[in-house]
Amino acid sequence: MKKEILFLLVIIFFPLTSVPVLAEENQVAKGARIFNNNCSRCHNARPAQEFSEKEWSVIVPHMREKAHLTGKEALALETFIAMTFTADKTTQPVVEYAGETGKDLIARFACAGCHKINGGGGTVGPNLNGVVQRMGAASVTRKLLEPTFNNPSSAMPSFPLTLEQVGKIVVELARK
Ligand code: HEC
Ligand code: HEC
Repeated sequence: MKKEILFLLVIIFFPLTSVPVLAEENQVAKGARIFNNNCSRCHNARPAQEFSEKEWSVIVPHMREKAHLTGKEALALETFIAMTFTADKTTQPVVEYAGETGKDLIARFACAGCHKINGGGGTVGPNLNGVVQRMGAASVTRKLLEPTFNNPSSAMPSFPLTLEQVGKIVVELARK
């Protein structure tokens, strides 16, 4: 009897807890796409970290008019920019989802917001196709654990990732 109740609770609560998380991730990817597509029309897309979060809160409404963004697009853009500030492993806990693949992690952290992958994505950072062959798996691993190791002023966020999660990303990138 107890087992059945537990099973029911899992069924009832699982969708409730997982849906908002997914929606949030899609906002990040959508915002990244807007950042790269709409914002680079007039000037180079500037790395989010070049400005403080406070400065961005002034820049986004101003540039929203220039880029003719809808309210929803502006919100997604702000979510992406906020993610690049909050995706800092010194302040953010590592979050692990069961069964999350390298591909899922690349989507969750919106790598394509700043990098081209298979032709699509941003130009703030270098193209990631062939990056493992070019740099070697060890350097790509190090780059993800500590983006400033070879570039002290790197605009790449220091994502809250475990070594295992980084490994999954590197394996996925090696296929590209
Ligand atoms: C229609 C052209 C146009 C579009 C589209 C555009 N910008 Fe700009 N952007 C400008 C111009 C012109 C300036 C410099 C003068 C100003 O601030 O108005 C500027 C300045 C900036 C600056 C520098 C601010 C500073 O103080 O140095 C940032 C950052 C910026 N834009 C980000 C963005 C973002 C993010 C988007 C996408 C939402 C975007 N821009 C879309 C024309 C554009
Ligand atoms: C906010 C923008 C941004 C995001 C998001 C981002 N990066 Fe980067 N990344 C950069 C920039 C800029 C560089 C180039 C400067 C440097 O080497 O630090 C870079 C460099 C790299 C490099 C080294 C490439 C080379 O040719 O030297 C790798 C590998 C990389 N990023 C992987 C990733 C992965 C994987 C993700 C997602 C987990 C990611 N990046 C997310 C901005 C970003």
